[in-house]
Amino acid sequence: MQRVRDDVKSKITGDGSVTFFNSDFKEHYHSLEGAREEALAKYIVPSELERRLANAAVSVLDVCFGLGYNTLLAAEEAAKWRGSISVTALEIDKAVVGDASQSIDSKWQVILSELYKRSLYSSDYLNIEMIWGDARLSCSELIADHRQYDLIYHDPFSTQRNAQLWTVDFFKKLYLLLKTDGVLLTYSTALPVLVGFLEAGFFIGKSEQVGEQRIGTVAAKSENMIKYPYSDDEMLAITESAKSVPYRDLSQCGENNEILRERNEKVVIGRQNDYVTK
Ligand SMILES: C[S@@+](CC[C@H](N)C(=O)[O-])C[C@H]1O[C@@H](n2cnc3c(N)ncnc32)[C@H](O)[C@@H]1O
Repeated sequence: MQRVRDDVKSKITGDGSVTFFNSDFKEHYHSLEGAREEALAKYIVPSELERRLANAAVSVLDVCFGLGYNTLLAAEEAAKWRGSISVTALEIDKAVVGDASQSIDSKWQVILSELYKRSLYSSDYLNIEMIWGDARLSCSELIADHRQYDLIYHDPFSTQRNAQLWTVDFFKKLYLLLKTDGVLLTYSTALPVLVGFLEAGFFIGKSEQVGEQRIGTVAAKSENMIKYPYSDDEMLAITESAKSVPYRDLSQCGENNEILRERNEKVVIGRQNDYVTK
């Protein structure tokens, strides 16, 4: 039997669900207020699965599968509404899925251990295929394969630790992978992220307020998929701020520090130019 690694620090969050601490990224995988509640508010509620499942099977691209909350809660919704979902899940760290299969909700253990061992899970209402490796590369392969999804769950670590997946250049890939009536959901509402989505061609809006949770971001190819848009004044504040310079990674193999440094240099130059013209 597989054993949970000794260096995996698991933590019970505010709603009783488990998360881990990642010692490389130096971050928890979820908000300590509640892993499950966070996944429900930022990803599942704005997915509108009841409406989507009434028409057809729903396809999901889960960028950063981690412990699998986003996919597994979406699967529970699919079962509830008697629909089916098909998930392509991207993850760079296979071990986290193995560890999760030993640690989180026992009803999910079979699915997680199948994904860890065989990279596939299939039942009458749920299909999951895992693609291991850097999501930047995996997305290029999916684009070459002409794949498109109804929903994209974008859930990397924070912009300061995992900038590789918050760049305009990566968002352009996600744009190609989204269906015209699909939505991309993410937890961040940081200015460089919002401007990054705009530059990649998306319309952006807010996710609806769920309980005490902070709102997240909904990005879409069609304006009518945005239920809670920013007002004109808010859009101006988003695009005109000195902090709005997005992250870039043209080579699609940049390191975190390199991406952060290049952006910071542009922010400083922008501030100097502002100062000169005032
Ligand atoms: C915040 S956690 C995701 C939490 C997850 N969605 C869940 O519900 O448990 C971020 C995940 O992104 C993965 N990751 C970080 N960089 C990546 C990359 N370049 N490509 C693919 N996965 C990456 C990490 O290994 C980690 O599992």
